[in-house]
Amino acid sequence: MKHNIIITGGAGFIGSHVVRLFVNKYPEYNIINLDKLTYAGNLANLKDIEGKPNYKFVKMDICDFEGVMKLMQDEHVDGIIHLAAESHVDRSIKDPFTFAQTNVMGTLSMLQAAKLYWESLPEKWEGKRFYHISTDEVYGALELTHPQGIEPPFSTKASSGKNHLAYGDKFFTEDLKYQPHSPYSAAKASSDHFVRAFHDTYGMPTVVTNCSNNYGPYQFPEKLIPLFINNIRHRKPLPVYGKGENVRDWLYVVDHARAIDTIFHNGKIAETYNIGGFNEWKNIDIIHTLIRTVDRLLGRPEGADDDLITFVTDRAGHDMRYAIDSTKLQKELGWEPSLQFEEGIELTVKWYLDNQEWMDNVTSGGYMKYYEDMYANR
Ligand code: NAD
Ligand code: TYD
Repeated sequence: MKHNIIITGGAGFIGSHVVRLFVNKYPEYNIINLDKLTYAGNLANLKDIEGKPNYKFVKMDICDFEGVMKLMQDEHVDGIIHLAAESHVDRSIKDPFTFAQTNVMGTLSMLQAAKLYWESLPEKWEGKRFYHISTDEVYGALELTHPQGIEPPFSTKASSGKNHLAYGDKFFTEDLKYQPHSPYSAAKASSDHFVRAFHDTYGMPTVVTNCSNNYGPYQFPEKLIPLFINNIRHRKPLPVYGKGENVRDWLYVVDHARAIDTIFHNGKIAETYNIGGFNEWKNIDIIHTLIRTVDRLLGRPEGADDDLITFVTDRAGHDMRYAIDSTKLQKELGWEPSLQFEEGIELTVKWYLDNQEWMDNVTSGGYMKYYEDMYANR
């Protein structure tokens, strides 16, 4: 079946991988990348596919309800994969209004435009899908009940490497109540509720997924992994919040994009799926891995950059542990991660080292103001 799909936030980190996968895998689809190009949106992320006949970029704000609705009518859109959002917790602590505006009002604008357009068609909801991409952070924080680590209850390709541990006995499952702590996760939680409300109230065919932390190429270097790779390369301090004991569950971004493909096509309407690879890491262990990997690839002696680690004031309301249980997605839809974490980190570090021009572009020039703002109060 042919689809006309709007992917919002397609010029960002995860969105660019989703756009690339859909454009290359489904030449018969029309893929429309709707993005406002905020500081986080970068068309250089999509250079390799920009000339493809089934791809179109439209610079637009998701809050522009009338513009979005006209685009849906003009392009006969039958699918929406909604990723556009403000995505960085530290920024949300400084500027919560922008997060409410984009993540809540922007999602509502997309939903209402889709509702009015699809309801106006003779076939109405038939063959339509509104797929909302969310985060595991809406579930709140888990405790570090086992700080030394225990054998994880499940294993996937992502977690099959050495030294793999779980740091607690509880995991995020789809039926947990929402308990967001940061303005970012509160805004994402609110948008998730609106998506479900549009299904329950109007019958819109929706699906929601909640994914763990992503890593990989094209991530804006305000997030832990690309920021630290770049700082190690340039021998700049590595600002570790608190004691570096916080735990995150990491998934290679291409595996997230593969899950989105599976769920867009085969996920059940009105369902929620958690996406993750049972791959928990303490920040400090990741940071040591990054230092070892960058130094090895640059031919520096082992341990040469350990002294870059700088413990700084903790993030306000810093969630202790995230750990996703993705059993439902694996059992019902057969998705699983394709990469071991160690392989993914090696690929990622190599990518950032090989793409210094991309990195320089986003850490200088027009981007500089955002970068400076980010560090202003540190
Ligand atoms: P990102 O910040 O890298 O990219 C966001 C994109 O959205 C950018 O291209 C930006 O220009 C665009 N955008 C922002 N505001 C917009 C607006 N008003 N109108 C149109 N476009 C706008 O984000 P990301 O890390 O790729 O995350 C994408 C989605 O996945 C988000 O919804 C995020 O909550 C979710 N998510 C992210 C992670 C992660 O680890 N990064 C994990 C789970 C879920
Ligand atoms: P981040 O990449 O911002 O993702 P999130 O907050 O959505 O999980 O941060 C990942 C972890 O790394 C988180 O526990 C905060 C920590 N961190 C630091 O210690 N120092 C930093 O400079 C950054 C950006 C993050």
